[in-house]
Amino acid sequence: MLIEELSRDGKSGLRLTFEDRGPGIPDVNRAMTDGYTTAGSMGLGLGGTRRLVNEFEIKSTVGVGTTVTVVQWKRR
Ligand SMILES: Nc1ncnc2c1ncn2[C@@H]1O[C@H](COP(=O)(O)OP(=O)(O)OP(=O)(O)O)[C@@H](O)[C@H]1O
Ligand SMILES: [Mg+2]
Repeated sequence: MLIEELSRDGKSGLRLTFEDRGPGIPDVNRAMTDGYTTAGSMGLGLGGTRRLVNEFEIKSTVGVGTTVTVVQWKRR
């Protein structure tokens, strides 16, 4: 995980980058769907995160890994 401080137009924020070298995600759209899980869990981690942050990006390659990047700007 990488934490970066951001400053843009007088606003401050954080960019968090979560990178793994796991199995990757074959169908990112399906993985983003609320309730979809292959882990027997709630299937809400990705979708819930997307709704909670200002910017959300996911890149995944099967057999290589997954990177999720979020940006949140401080409220003022
Ligand atoms: N980093 C990852 N690498 C590989 N597959 C992933 C990764 N993150 C998510 N997935 C796949 O997408 C599915 C949905 O992910 P999501 O985080 O939304 O739910 P979950 O992890 O199953 O449950 P929850 O996060 O609610 O505990 C996962 O079950 C898994 O199949
Ligand atoms: Mg999850």
